[in-house]
Amino acid sequence: MFEASIDRGLPKPELYRDLAKSLESLLHGETDALANLANAAGLLATTLERTNWSGFYLLRSGELVLGPFQGKPACVRIEVGKGVCGTAAARRQTLVVPDVMAFPGHIACDAASRSEIVVPILQDGTLRGVLDVDSPEKNRFDDEDRAGLEEFVRVLTPRVDWSKL
Ligand code: SME
Repeated sequence: MFEASIDRGLPKPELYRDLAKSLESLLHGETDALANLANAAGLLATTLERTNWSGFYLLRSGELVLGPFQGKPACVRIEVGKGVCGTAAARRQTLVVPDVMAFPGHIACDAASRSEIVVPILQDGTLRGVLDVDSPEKNRFDDEDRAGLEEFVRVLTPRVDWSKL
């Protein structure tokens, strides 16, 4: 059985280095797309402190559709270009939102969320979806989280068979 032994109190660069290593070993030898995304969401939720939602929206027929996640039930469909997720997907750029109330068009799935980070998932230039992490605290995410979660997505992307989702 996989046991993550990440010290949640580590400084962020070390924490994210260990997180990427844990993800690699968690996904090692497994190719099932849904299982790998579900385990990735579970790993984030149990490792990142002060977060209330971690998961994926997957691009299906030009629209973002809820994928594996940990947290409260969330809105199912998000148009590309709408909300934090849809904006990050449209721009193909990570968005760090320090205060979701100040983000025009933010979609409130969990009313407790105060800050958010969304990382687009690109496989060989093709948009596959986004990774979304929410926090009940304002200003929870910074540039170190951006770098760490972008690396997490870089490790994850080639280990998911996106055509099977
Ligand atoms: N807040 C997101 C919607 C997804 S939930 O946070 C899980 C947005 O504005 O796109």
